[in-house]
Amino acid sequence: ALIIKSECIDVKDGICTTSCPVDCIYEGERMFYIHPEECIECGMCESICPVDAIRYYDEVTGADRAFIEINKDVFQGP
Ligand code: F3S
Repeated sequence: ALIIKSECIDVKDGICTTSCPVDCIYEGERMFYIHPEECIECGMCESICPVDAIRYYDEVTGADRAFIEINKDVFQGP
């Protein structure tokens, strides 16, 4: 899947939601999140984000890898 990284925090441009053919990008309080099971990995959102916040999991390095778990947790029940 793809994830949204720290660049989205408090930016929340939102244009990525219009690029997603399966509507799997959801608004959170300070950033948007991609539902890991609904994402079809088309990559349409990756190039459209003005702050370059979206990447495929395997392209995420360093501290940004924490966002893979953060994204997952957002869609998990208690
Ligand atoms: Fe955030 Fe970029 Fe989407 S700033 S809301 S990931 S277009």
